[in-house]
Amino acid sequence: MAAEAQRVQRKDGSETCWLTRLARVRRESLVAAVLGCVLAAPACSGARERARAGEAPRVAVTPPPPPPLPAPPATGNPFAGAAFYIDPAYVAKVDATIGAQPARAAQLRKVEASPTAIWIDSVAKVASVARTLDDALAQQQHGGVSVVTVFVLYDLPERDCSAQASSGELSVENGGEARYQREVIEPLAAQFRARPSQRIALVVEPDSLANLATNLGVARCASAAAVYQRSIARALQGLSMPNVWLYLDAAHAGWLGWKRNRAKIAAIYRDVLAEAGGNDRIRGFATNVSNYDALHGGDLARLEPSDPCPDELTYVAELGASLAEVGITGKGFLIDTSRNGRSGTRTRSGSWCNIAGSGLGERPQAAPAPGVDAYWWIKPPGDSDGASDPSTPGYDASCGAGSADSLPGAPRAGQWFTAQFLQLVDNATPPL
Ligand code: BGC
Repeated sequence: MAAEAQRVQRKDGSETCWLTRLARVRRESLVAAVLGCVLAAPACSGARERARAGEAPRVAVTPPPPPPLPAPPATGNPFAGAAFYIDPAYVAKVDATIGAQPARAAQLRKVEASPTAIWIDSVAKVASVARTLDDALAQQQHGGVSVVTVFVLYDLPERDCSAQASSGELSVENGGEARYQREVIEPLAAQFRARPSQRIALVVEPDSLANLATNLGVARCASAAAVYQRSIARALQGLSMPNVWLYLDAAHAGWLGWKRNRAKIAAIYRDVLAEAGGNDRIRGFATNVSNYDALHGGDLARLEPSDPCPDELTYVAELGASLAEVGITGKGFLIDTSRNGRSGTRTRSGSWCNIAGSGLGERPQAAPAPGVDAYWWIKPPGDSDGASDPSTPGYDASCGAGSADSLPGAPRAGQWFTAQFLQLVDNATPPL
């Protein structure tokens, strides 16, 4: 049977000519089928009449289909009622330390029971996300409870614009904006989309938008500002889906606690979220990532007496109020408690690199306080913040000569720093 010509009535009342049942065409060629369409259904095109009347043939243009509606965003607290994914790569690092310190094995093994976030800090890391999610699914099937996996997206072009320790691989010059979208966001979204039954929490780009709120005096931040905003908006747009809970980074009390800074960051979030498709694209905000501020009390009141937010719990409450002023409401917070167990270890609130005397903080837990989705070990304890020796790549003066608060002998950012890890364990509060 030849393909049948069909007239299809579109919603706008116009008609188009369509070929159906092509699969059933046996001997007749496709050309004959097309002719059949034109000849058998003159009303379909009116082409012959127009040709006779000397009119230019009208080409039936089918308008492009409307863009697909964005997937609905994830809702609710993903940590509630969930088990937590334990990252075997982190466990392996702790195991290596146990190998070198067997006398401490019992204590160090307790650290392995705590989940840590997995940082997607390079294009190369993107491909490993599927394996991690497979592994999380296996843990889920074993335990029978939903497992939540926490990732950190950290590969923005011109990353860490106000410092040197964590400069990334993508820059404006090497086409980083397009590469970020094509090599990071799109493949990441595909892997997340393929796992609709898994709970995925994603912390988006630590420090980036906070740098736009307060560090535009730094040339690299000023020139990267538009790229940051666009890239993050597109990341939120691409990664928002029913199984992915997005948390935009919101720095910490000692950085954005002041009312003026909170107003600035709230305005930036408002703009970025509008560009990303609306406030509901994100579940909330992550604070204290890789930082040391206490949950309550702590040293900020002494170090920064003018800061109305002396600790992280005050900060998330006050930030919530500032966000409400720009129409962003109902958000949940994640707070990094990997290294804030001990306070009073800094001489300056701005010290951020491998702070000597720090301790592990609260263990990861769901819904520990009103408005807080979870405490989490977002910075894997034992990973360095930056190199302390000027001859090491990734050296930052804030980790070495310029910081009396930082541990010496630190490797570059992200690498395992045994001395720091052991100190965090020794000073854990609550104790292990
Ligand atoms: C580093 C990243 C690392 C992360 C977690 C950041 O400071 O720049 O490479 O993955 O810390 O340790």
